[in-house]
Amino acid sequence: MKKFIGGNWKMNLLESQAGEFAKALDKAYEDGVEVVLFPPGLMLKTVKDSVNRLGVGAQNLYFEEKGAYTGEISIGMLEDMGISHSLIGHSERRTVFLEDDVLINSKLKAVMKSRVTPVLCLGEHLGQRKDGLAEATVKGQLVTALDGVESIEGLIIAYEPVWAIGTGMSATPEDAESMAKFIRGEVERLYPGFGKKTRIIYGGSVNGKNIGDISKLENVDGVLVGGASLKLDEFTEIMRYGRD
Ligand code: PGA
Repeated sequence: MKKFIGGNWKMNLLESQAGEFAKALDKAYEDGVEVVLFPPGLMLKTVKDSVNRLGVGAQNLYFEEKGAYTGEISIGMLEDMGISHSLIGHSERRTVFLEDDVLINSKLKAVMKSRVTPVLCLGEHLGQRKDGLAEATVKGQLVTALDGVESIEGLIIAYEPVWAIGTGMSATPEDAESMAKFIRGEVERLYPGFGKKTRIIYGGSVNGKNIGDISKLENVDGVLVGGASLKLDEFTEIMRYGRD
């Protein structure tokens, strides 16, 4: 299974910078790993037109086909633009924009019927980890997100502990491995046969320094990178580590 490396730009860069940056990353890319950039929605077309070998994904989408949903982007719009992936349920969507598991489930159900591959983000808050509830929290998010989803072919799951995102405090390799293994077991329980073939990746303060340790983990099939994905040299290093 090829490793998956996502670069989540969040709400950063300007349209006038995005194309050049994407081109430089595309040039730095070497075969053997799947890399997908997640720029702000407004820059999807520019980034798509600037890369040949990297994939391009949306940071968010809405599950309804069309209509009066001010500010939203539909799955059909992404497909029409040739966008291959979308994050679903990123912790910033959950925390800042109050997306709940039910909404995330609606998005997942809709996107699994489309040509867009979802990267479903799960992760506990620090208090939940301290209370010994990390696994129960992640399991609850997973089970609700997948409720009524018939097939999970192609689905990518990102374990991103909320306390590790943007804090510089990455999970230890042992914790990342242990949760990825737990998620894999749950996926196998819910969808027999899919435990092995579903990519489970880690996100939360991944950088040029810790990628070496993370890339050795048996149950972690890649990374979702925020801050470090905005730095050409560092993201190039991360792309290199992910190779077969
Ligand atoms: P970070 O973000 O690498 O800046 O911690 C990760 C993410 O939000 O996906």
